[in-house]
Amino acid sequence: MRLTVETASKSFPGVKALDRVSLDLRPGEIHALMGENGAGKSTLIKIITGVYQPDEGRVSIDGSEVRFSSPRDAIAAGISAVHQERNLVPRFSVGENIALERLPTKRGLIDYAEVDREARRYLDLLDRGIDTRAEVRTLSVAQMQIVEIAKALSLEAKCLLLDEPTASITEHETAALFTLLRRLRGEGVAMLFVSHKLEEVFAIADRVTVLRDGKNAAEGVPIAEMSRQKLVSLMIGREERIAKIRERTIDAADVVMEARGLATSLGHRDIAFSLRRGEILGLYGLVGAGRSELAKAMLGGAVTGGDLIVRGKPARIRDMHEALRSYRIGYVSEDRKGEGLILIHSVRENVAITIWQRIAKVLGLIPPGAEARAVQPFVDRLEVRTPSLSQAVGNLSGGNQQKVSIAKWLAANADILIIDEPTVGIDIKTKTYLHELIGEIAAGGVSVILISSDMPEMITVADRILVMHGFRIVGEVMNDHRYETTSKAIMSRIHAVEESEPEAAT
Ligand SMILES: Nc1ncnc2c1ncn2[C@@H]1O[C@H](COP(=O)(O)OP(=O)(O)OP(=O)(O)O)[C@@H](O)[C@H]1O
Ligand SMILES: [Mg+2]
Repeated sequence: MRLTVETASKSFPGVKALDRVSLDLRPGEIHALMGENGAGKSTLIKIITGVYQPDEGRVSIDGSEVRFSSPRDAIAAGISAVHQERNLVPRFSVGENIALERLPTKRGLIDYAEVDREARRYLDLLDRGIDTRAEVRTLSVAQMQIVEIAKALSLEAKCLLLDEPTASITEHETAALFTLLRRLRGEGVAMLFVSHKLEEVFAIADRVTVLRDGKNAAEGVPIAEMSRQKLVSLMIGREERIAKIRERTIDAADVVMEARGLATSLGHRDIAFSLRRGEILGLYGLVGAGRSELAKAMLGGAVTGGDLIVRGKPARIRDMHEALRSYRIGYVSEDRKGEGLILIHSVRENVAITIWQRIAKVLGLIPPGAEARAVQPFVDRLEVRTPSLSQAVGNLSGGNQQKVSIAKWLAANADILIIDEPTVGIDIKTKTYLHELIGEIAAGGVSVILISSDMPEMITVADRILVMHGFRIVGEVMNDHRYETTSKAIMSRIHAVEESEPEAAT
């Protein structure tokens, strides 16, 4: 199938999301769609799939114009999409979600054996570890993403639109996905691929289209003619900048939080570390190492043994509210949409949630304007793209929603901040700002625990890196900010454990 978009425009109140955009998607190609947060990528995909109607312009399949009034029409025409926001039904099983569009029945009842078989067929191509009968709400963020991809694949479409399919999955799963996409390319499927990870685009794409402020900055340029620098300057209008992390002197004796032999009900054993004032302590590990779980257990009443000491006193923290209120510890969750944001509330209200206590003069009464004054600097600094602070967060682009949830925590009056995968879905320009901002809040005396699967990010930002594997801390690496040596040191710790206990590796 050859799918073309000509001079498509789309406006929302206060925003021209697309301005006469063109795209030519050919059979048997992987076409990358690139651009900053808010550039219009997801809107373009939603116009193709009938979620939105264009204000002008047209979409054609093999030369004839099509008009889809709903996503169902697009599916019927052979177009399948993985949207950026999750579209799974949390209380349905993995199998039911994958087969949702066409549940197999037997004598009028859903044929569950067939549902499982169907689901396995696509799921196994990506990850054999996911149970088709598990309820989706029990899965990790990475697993949900895989289910979404399997669901899109199961439609066996001639045209596949993938909006940041790799945002929350690891390199390992991405490699499996890429093998599959290459196979589909061989079968003549036309594929559109959105990602903020430039390495991925250079690894898989044949051609690239770039959007900037809703306009074409490039259209269908062969990847062989594109360099990283050129692509970056097409996206952001200037060259890539390396983050400069503020120099700090950290006093090893000034410990603000310490774990001594912690065990948790989630399965952690012998967790010991100390976090110093103004330090950025990295927590690195492969998916399943238990990093996010450690944060959630420490702050969520799941410590079953050992001691957690905050500012010299033993702490028993029951929930996140207590963590912030009584211990001034904030946690920026990896699942920002699930745990971090209220989509129907405005940008201002979402950011201000954590600072209400600080700015409320009288209980429950917030002086007019105070909220906006407290919020604005963070919104500016992270360049949250929004027509105003009163915009509902749900109307922002995916990356801008992420920025809001991070701004919220940076605005909070926390002295210890645990930040989980801060730059997932964030464009390369803001990623640099965010790294510098983390450095600055640390320079201001805040202690940070940084959980990240992004090794270059870890090596740029962290002072010290704890390596986790199988719910234990298996090593500590001083970061010299040199990629080669530090990444090798980290991986060698992981490999050493995997070799000494091969059964625990899976
Ligand atoms: N339903 C909506 N209502 C109002 N504005 C919207 C809506 N959907 C998108 N927008 C706006 O349109 C612009 C383009 O958004 P879009 O989601 O297409 O960006 P994107 O390129 O996908 O960004 P990201 O990388 O962050 O996902 C943004 O300014 C966004 O706020
Ligand atoms: Mg998007």
